[in-house]
Amino acid sequence: MRLADKSVFISGAGGGMGRLAAQVFAREGARIVAFDITEDGLRGTVASIEGEGGGIVAVTGDVSVAADVERAVAEGVRAFGKLHVLYNNAGIFPDEDGSIVDMDEAVYQRVLDVNLKGVSLCCKYGIPRLTEAGGGSVINVASFVALMGCTVPQDAYTASKGAVISLTRSLAVQYGPKGVRVNAICPGPILTPLLESLFPTEEERLKRLNRIPLGRFGRAEDVVYAALYLASDESSWTTGTTFVVDGGISVNYF
Ligand SMILES: NC(=O)c1ccc[n+]([C@@H]2O[C@H](COP(=O)([O-])OP(=O)(O)OC[C@H]3O[C@@H](n4cnc5c(N)ncnc54)[C@H](O)[C@@H]3O)[C@@H](O)[C@H]2O)c1
Repeated sequence: MRLADKSVFISGAGGGMGRLAAQVFAREGARIVAFDITEDGLRGTVASIEGEGGGIVAVTGDVSVAADVERAVAEGVRAFGKLHVLYNNAGIFPDEDGSIVDMDEAVYQRVLDVNLKGVSLCCKYGIPRLTEAGGGSVINVASFVALMGCTVPQDAYTASKGAVISLTRSLAVQYGPKGVRVNAICPGPILTPLLESLFPTEEERLKRLNRIPLGRFGRAEDVVYAALYLASDESSWTTGTTFVVDGGISVNYF
């Protein structure tokens, strides 16, 4: 098993790609610390991996609140003794996020709080636990929109994800000597209910698909298997990278 004896903290584990990561990582032998703002979501995650892996601890809280993140990390360490991997996956993309020119300041602040401060807080409280464990892996979820512009802007989201990539590089340099690897994943458009509602007609989807060399939207597992590699010791000489998982969309000129 690829994550045997590893304890993994996953933010946003109550749904979407975070829940799938909890399931896949548990199947690979990991002990899971599942953190999410929704208690119901966490209950569903716990039920879905019952009996697999090395156990699961679920903690409800807001990734943008320091006390919540500190408590979640502490509960994980109390349950499993050590922490080896941080999968900083929680993120939001509210409809109200658009062009910076006419964006409500409160929307901007909330997106930055969850997507950037949230990742920062998980690193602040999690990385010292990784160094105590003798090293580990941090995986920060950014996005392909941090690498390229978009005519349908989500400027707060884009800015937050760009900053996540910069923070990843800085932490990789600081903590590499202590055995902690820090990488970012940039998923392309993943076919979630959100994306389906954004492009409801076949025609609109086909227009976007033409931009993707591999000819399909992403699946949650495309991202989670990239994260599995980064979480495992197979990536033990990989740090500071921006791992783009986007079907080739970001290298396509036309
Ligand atoms: N879906 C995509 O197409 C796509 C593309 C690129 C990047 N991403 C990124 O991938 C990550 C996961 O996306 P997803 O599609 O699985 O999203 P999702 O909305 O399905 O799941 C996100 C999870 O995070 C939780 N969450 C939200 N705010 C939180 C907070 N303040 N504190 C704790 N938990 C919180 C939610 O409850 C939810 O369970 C995000 O960082 C997102 O920005 C997604």
